[in-house]
Amino acid sequence: MNILIIGSGGREHAFAYKISQSKHCDKLFTMPGNPGTAQYGTNVPINPNDFTTVGKFCLDNKIELIIVGPEEFLVNGIRNYFEADNQLKTIGFIGPNQQGAQIEGSKDFSKALMKKYNIPTAAYETFTFENIDDGVKYVNAHTLPIVLKADGLAAGKGVLICESHEEAVAELQAMIKEKKFGDASTKVVVEQFLKGIELSVFVLSDGTNYKILPSAKDYKRIGEGETGLNTGGMGAVSPVPFADDVFMKKVEERIIKPTILGLKNEGINYTGFVFIGLMNMDGEPFVIEYNCRMGDPETEVVLPLIKSDVVELFKACADGKLNEYDLHIDERTSTTVMLVSTGYPGNYEKEKIIGGLNLCEGSLLFHSGTKLNNNNQLVTNGGRVMAITSFGNTVQEAISVSLKNAEIIQFEGKYFRRDIGYEFV
Ligand code: AMP
Ligand code: GLY
Repeated sequence: MNILIIGSGGREHAFAYKISQSKHCDKLFTMPGNPGTAQYGTNVPINPNDFTTVGKFCLDNKIELIIVGPEEFLVNGIRNYFEADNQLKTIGFIGPNQQGAQIEGSKDFSKALMKKYNIPTAAYETFTFENIDDGVKYVNAHTLPIVLKADGLAAGKGVLICESHEEAVAELQAMIKEKKFGDASTKVVVEQFLKGIELSVFVLSDGTNYKILPSAKDYKRIGEGETGLNTGGMGAVSPVPFADDVFMKKVEERIIKPTILGLKNEGINYTGFVFIGLMNMDGEPFVIEYNCRMGDPETEVVLPLIKSDVVELFKACADGKLNEYDLHIDERTSTTVMLVSTGYPGNYEKEKIIGGLNLCEGSLLFHSGTKLNNNNQLVTNGGRVMAITSFGNTVQEAISVSLKNAEIIQFEGKYFRRDIGYEFV
């Protein structure tokens, strides 16, 4: 069948890599894609927010399966556009509609879902301009630190952890009154700080049934030892060694089952990934957030561990038959190290020539921010440039291969963290 992946990062390259291995994949398209995805098929220079053009492309190219990578298009309702059209609605679609995407697009929605279905999470209240005075009182009576979250999408910047009441009150007012995060902070969730170790669990749901994919931990800060600014993710490990069967059973019973059932009870037919950000507090899982998609760079470690044919997996999901599907997972560990441009997550330069890829051995190289320049040379085109994924029987074994290849790949201003997976080696 012909398949379309939407997105252009390392996550989408990892999807393209796995999908291209399937015996069911005829033509593979990535919209807009990058030089990494181009190795497996055709990149399509259409803006995925232009739903009409995307729909026409799908009909013209007889697309039978669509996988959406980034949240933006889901939150904007690309799935709803397809569901509303008689021809387009027959295409298998991995990614929820706008109602389902609220689990990521609205913190207030996701917290209310958790509260209603008794899913363990931080205690919270939501405030708007109308009840900001109550918000100030709530914040002043809150234990420290205090977590403030812009309700809507804020490019990963909408969460503030405040160490004093004065700071929290000032930030609450800046978010609501001064629209610090634009319309995203019209509503603000104020919540309890959870102390523990973070990890992520990924679930593929067909609306009723689900499959749990390997857990992962990403390393968000730019500096080694988890210091400095937050990034999109500097590396990842999968599975997470402490997410053993006992812990995962708690996650499944207390979090995954009520989440999938809750969405269904709310009348949402959720077909797609649920990315559950968790805090492990002394062996007990609490939800920090949901995302309506896979993570990046988590996908670059999780997907390569799937041994089953992923097109069969996605098809079973789209057909509502995940219960009949047998998922096989590699027993090994995978790690990824992200090469970034110096300056990221602030300002950085682009168009630096990338060399040494053909000298790398033993790793999968997933392109994040790369492009071909006018001379057809591979150059940097983003803060995160390339994810280097390797396998091993232990985290140590896998990470040593990723780090070796991280040294081999060259571009001016290259930076990467050498301590990915440090707690597990
Ligand atoms: P989010 O955008 O919800 O993923 O939040 C970004 C980051 O803020 C998370 O990955 C956590 O590291 C941190 N965070 C969010 N909520 C909490 C919380 N209630 N307690 C502690 N840390 C949190
Ligand atoms: N790596 C975190 C995310 O994809 O949201």
